[in-house]
Amino acid sequence: MDVRPNDYDGFAEAYAAENENSLVNAYYERPAMLALTGDVAGHHILDAGCGSGPLAAALRDRGAVVTGIDSSVEMLALARRRLGEDVALQVVDLRDPLPFGDETFDDVAASLVLHYLEDWGPTLAELRRVLKPGGRLIVSVEHPVIAYIIQEPWPNYLATNSYSFHWTFDGQTVPMTFWRRPLHAMTDAFASAGFRLSRISEPQPDPAARELFPNDFEALSTQPNVLFFVVEAVPPSLLATF
Ligand SMILES: C[S@@+](CC[C@H](N)C(=O)[O-])C[C@H]1O[C@@H](n2cnc3c(N)ncnc32)[C@H](O)[C@@H]1O
Repeated sequence: MDVRPNDYDGFAEAYAAENENSLVNAYYERPAMLALTGDVAGHHILDAGCGSGPLAAALRDRGAVVTGIDSSVEMLALARRRLGEDVALQVVDLRDPLPFGDETFDDVAASLVLHYLEDWGPTLAELRRVLKPGGRLIVSVEHPVIAYIIQEPWPNYLATNSYSFHWTFDGQTVPMTFWRRPLHAMTDAFASAGFRLSRISEPQPDPAARELFPNDFEALSTQPNVLFFVVEAVPPSLLATF
């Protein structure tokens, strides 16, 4: 039987188990997102592509009022189990219009989700719409250089294209398809949607992981597989001059 790529409903438990303690998620991507997000006490935050909710939980524990959305019913069921009723959760595909009013959120976190989307334009426009003026979109996305480590033959760096591979986590091997794009395509997409670039980050993993994952830690320290952005929603009154 053919298995659909990116079928998070089919491997939710396995993915969530891996994500909980893995080098990349627990000791690299999540701490980096939290460091970039900073003090969020009292902030209304949308966690877009929240998965099983580890980032939402950490943001809630820091005093934020969090809403989580994801296209996978099963991932959201795991998030509900983790978060109880503290966090509003809703099945939403980020390729569709968002079910929120204009200027609802102080921040949006989009953690490891945008590389599932071919066209960032409509999604970023919606994220911009639901952010308050000056609000922040904090993004982690697969680093464009990673294709040179796992894709054969090497792709045209300047092209935006999809590529497929198999992922094994927690003993389950599943087909995945990601969209990769060059750095300028990302920054252009942010600008076109009305965001101003505030920060690009290529952080180091948490040093606490060195002993836990000695070989992978060295590799991740020199070959970052995630790229981070903080971009700010330009107030509508300034968009014309931007
Ligand atoms: C790699 S996981 C990351 C989950 C979570 N952000 C984290 O870091 O733990 C990607 C998540 O994006 C969700 N996703 C993929 N495509 C999506 C889409 N078009 N709309 C909404 N969510 C999507 C998946 O269901 C999955 O939960």
